[in-house]
Order: sequence, then structure tokens, then C-alpha cells
Amino acid sequence: TVPLNYAAQAAGKLYFGSATDNPELTDVPYVTILNDTAMFGQLTPGNSMKWDAIEPEQNVFNFTGGDQIVALAEGTGKIMRGHNLVWYSQLPAWVTATAWTADELTSIIQTHVTTEVSHYVGKIYAWDVINEPLNDNGTFRSDIFYDTLGSSYISIALRAARAADPNAKLYINEYNLEYSGPKIDAMVQLVSDLKAEGVPIDGIGIESHYILGEVSASELKANMLNLTSLGVDVAFTELDVRIELPATDADLEQQKSDYTTIVSVCMEVADCVGVTVWDYTDKYSWIPASFPGYGEACPWDENLVKKPAYDGIVAGL
Ligand code: XIL
Repeated sequence: TVPLNYAAQAAGKLYFGSATDNPELTDVPYVTILNDTAMFGQLTPGNSMKWDAIEPEQNVFNFTGGDQIVALAEGTGKIMRGHNLVWYSQLPAWVTATAWTADELTSIIQTHVTTEVSHYVGKIYAWDVINEPLNDNGTFRSDIFYDTLGSSYISIALRAARAADPNAKLYINEYNLEYSGPKIDAMVQLVSDLKAEGVPIDGIGIESHYILGEVSASELKANMLNLTSLGVDVAFTELDVRIELPATDADLEQQKSDYTTIVSVCMEVADCVGVTVWDYTDKYSWIPASFPGYGEACPWDENLVKKPAYDGIVAGL
């Protein structure tokens, strides 16, 4: 069958990609599959471009891990999604342990975003500038940024990113936008407000961390069209489909079908630019550690063997 990235590109999409993480890059069989650009045309660093990795102390920047993944992408002809610039999680203590004034925190965000985006200027197709700003009930998440600056932290970060790399696509990335309800409504409102204010925003990342059997193609497609009708791109940025363990053969068939359905929706939405799996193999999936009792969420198993889900993706492309 046609490898995933080539199949996605033949269908008019920009890429089919995968997250990866630096410790995995010593695993030669893993990297051999990852490096195949017919299979994966895009990489996202799972951790090494996050704030705690990049600026562990104020004004002390460490790009080593991020640079390694950019070099791998460049060496194998892949594009990069930068992930991420401003997020409540994986923040170093120096950011959260001080009661900053609004002016101080504005400057901290600007320095972080400007320095990171400038370091990678010209090398990143799209940045997740803002990660997970909303609660499931549609309100803004209470975190150091929102509590200090209100929602203005979003435009502060987006404007700084645009100034540092005018050619990078600027995204807000979020989970649970796959279902109808207050969260997607709030994201549509946020994009509409940002557009009205002239704030640079190019895309919305739909993380797509699914639970087996919970895919609604109609809700997903309607939500994506509600976003793209505002003039932004969308992408599936962190796709996986987790199974309550132990996974049965029937579960793996359901997972295959879920992957087909999800990928098909990106194919049907013109401004869905591509699909990224949140690592391609169960060997390095984040699911078992974050959702105890769940696993086997990826299209390759932990022995790097393709699962039915792989054929499910091919069928959807
Ligand atoms: C996860 C990584 O995969 C893990 O290795 C890490 O321990 C926690 O973060 N949403 C996101 C990603 O936007 O950054 C998260 O990545 C998964 C959920």
C-alpha cells in the first residue's frame, strides 16, 4: 500500500506526520521508520520545545533537544510543527513561583516567544503558539497567564510570534474540540474575536486524543467547518485512539474503523492541512502513563509492527 505521507499528499494534503521525542532517537529501528519521508512528512517534538526545556531559567535558553529534531526533519525532507510556546503545563518553576505584575509577565512571554521563534525562524511550518487555553465548559483556563493578564496573553504571544517569524503559521492547539458543546463554541468565538481585533491567527490544532468508539464524524466535520469558515486552517495535531486494556481483536478492528473515520474527515475538509499522530508506535505512546488502564493507541504496536489501525488510516486517506 501507499505510505501515509505520500498518500496524504496525493490526496491534496500537506503532510502526514508524527510526534517524536529525543530519548527515542537512539532506537535505530524506530528512527528508520520515522525517517522514511514517504511515511511521515512532518515532525512535532513531543517535549523538547516546551517552556521547561527551552527556558529552564529566566533568560537561559537551551535549544539542544529542539535542534536535534529540526536537524532530523531537515535531513529527511520533512516539515516541522513547533510545539509549544505558551501552555499552563510543563512550565519551569521560575515562571509559576513568582507573583508577576501584568507588565512583567507580558515581557516574560514576549521574551520567551520572540527568542524561541527567532531561533527557529524559517524552519517551522506552524507553531502551536497557545496550547490548551480553554476549559471544557468553554471558559478560559485559570493559569498564571490568564490570571495575570486575562485573555490578552493570547494576543501578546501571537503578535510576538508573528513579528519573529512572519512566514510561520500561528496556531492555537486544543483538545476536546472534536465534540459539539461549549468548548468548540468558545474556540469559534475566540478565533472570531482575534480576527476582529486583527490579531494574527492562522490555524486551530485539533489534538484528537480519542477514546475507542467515540468518534462522531458529523460533529467533527461540523466543528472543523465552523473554524475554517472564519478563515483559519485546521489540523489534527496529536491523533491517537486509546483502548481500555486488555485490547481484544474486536477493539483493534474498531480502532481501525475509528482511524479511517477521523482521517476521512480531514480529507473532506479543504482547509484541513494534515494529520499528526502523537507518536506512531505504542512503544512510545504517552497514553499508558497519563491514562492508567488505557493503551495501544497508535497505528504501530510496541514491536514496531503495523496494526489494523495502519490500514484504517490508509483507507481514510
Ligand atoms: C505529552 C507528552 O507526550 C508526554 O511525554 C509528556 O509527559 C506530557 O505531555 N497535549 C499536548 C502535548 O499538547 O504536549 C502532550 O504531550 C499531550 C497532551
